[in-house]
Amino acid sequence: MRYARLPLMLAALSASAGAQTPAHEPFLWGAASAAYQVEGANTADNKGPSIWDDYLDNKSLAGPGMSGAMAINFYDRDQYLKDIALMKAMGLNSYRFSISWPRIIPDGRGPVNLAAVAHYRRFILDLKAAGIRPMLTLYHWDMPLSLARAGGWENRQSIEWFDHYAQVVFANFNDLVDTYVLVNEPLVERAMKLLAEQRLATGDKGEFQIIPSAQNLPGALRTFNHLLLASAVASRSFHAKGYRGRLGIAVPLFPVLTAPGASAADREAATLSDGVMNRWFLDSMYKGRYPTDVLDAMRQAGADIGVRPDDAAAIGAARFDYLGINFYSPLFIRRPVGAARDGYAAEMFLPQGTYAAYNGAVRPDQFRALLNRIRTDYGNPPIIITENGAGFPGDDELVNGAVRDVKRCRYIVDHVAAMQAAMKDGVDVRGYHVWSSHDNLEWLFGYGSRFGMIHVDFDTQKRTPKLSSTVYARIIRGEQVTEADCGR
Ligand code: FCB
Repeated sequence: MRYARLPLMLAALSASAGAQTPAHEPFLWGAASAAYQVEGANTADNKGPSIWDDYLDNKSLAGPGMSGAMAINFYDRDQYLKDIALMKAMGLNSYRFSISWPRIIPDGRGPVNLAAVAHYRRFILDLKAAGIRPMLTLYHWDMPLSLARAGGWENRQSIEWFDHYAQVVFANFNDLVDTYVLVNEPLVERAMKLLAEQRLATGDKGEFQIIPSAQNLPGALRTFNHLLLASAVASRSFHAKGYRGRLGIAVPLFPVLTAPGASAADREAATLSDGVMNRWFLDSMYKGRYPTDVLDAMRQAGADIGVRPDDAAAIGAARFDYLGINFYSPLFIRRPVGAARDGYAAEMFLPQGTYAAYNGAVRPDQFRALLNRIRTDYGNPPIIITENGAGFPGDDELVNGAVRDVKRCRYIVDHVAAMQAAMKDGVDVRGYHVWSSHDNLEWLFGYGSRFGMIHVDFDTQKRTPKLSSTVYARIIRGEQVTEADCGR
């Protein structure tokens, strides 16, 4: 395929596509998960290896014995039926899960694995039988190992690999699923991959840096461009076949803050970071162009990021049906001490005394502000919150058979309130998904950081719904809930 011709083709198609939201659809109250983090069974039914099987099982990058071979055993129907029952009891009407590319196409490009297709079809039917709508993510980081070895998202051919996979998914699931997330969080995936590579190279744990360093930025922008283009091409394939449904991308958005007393150089670093983390995605999807400040910075640095003149227009022409937002926290940004005077240089930090969860500062006010920014700066597209949630050290202890996760409970109550305030401001939010329904495997951080509303004993696989799940259930029932309902 020649991508130079895409804008025209996409423009023609998108005129008939439009948003496909059913007129009276109820608000989606859900939870989210990802295949690798929950399924286990990492060789069952002819599954091919993914880059994550390699990182954790072969290379032990999350520590010795820390593996996705069992995770929370979600590939097992006896187990997941019990989990669906728990989610139904919570009142969820939507469940966002991902299917595994190397299960569906074990070597990434070759034959389709019908056993895996059958598994996911049965799972979706089981979900629907419980009154829960499937929100299917095609790609949540588990790149087939063979494709990772062929360069993964750095290789522009990844656009075609993904389109092929997406067409297989649409053909096999379009009769059961109408809401798709094409790809999850290009930015965080990239940061996680760099940390994995650093662990491999140096053997030490390293620090997780969401914001790319100056050195890593060109490679990051190159992969983001490919992920966005791959999504645009898959969307075109979907609409060309006349399937009915909604497609979007789940982007992690990070309101960018500076500390009081920040210098002009810090503020410049923050603005450019906003370009890299937020506007790179939002401007291409909603304005059909990449932010000039980021492009200029790359030009000045003499970096080749592989972006062709029509790429951003092709992404804009895809006109995704909704914007998937993963929101956890804002990021405080400053210019690193000693960085050269010119050019891009930014680092994240947490000001002393900031109340924070594993994923950063807890700031529901910034969630509301972010949603309003999408309304005012990007034409108020339909939004689905594809992830929001938190984990805190010490919040998940099982005491006398119960888990009082007071901090998570408050986080959810406050963020739902912020979202509802934004909706009153006029933001078009159609759904909200907590990350996550269950405690699960947190990538390179193993099983130590819990995010679930349902506690999982990773040795016995026993489930215990936490306080947050009962309060979330009350929110879903429409009760007016406040932080006080979470206790102390
Ligand atoms: C997000 C990821 C998700 C999970 C949460 C805690 O960045 O999309 O898989 O790890 O963070």
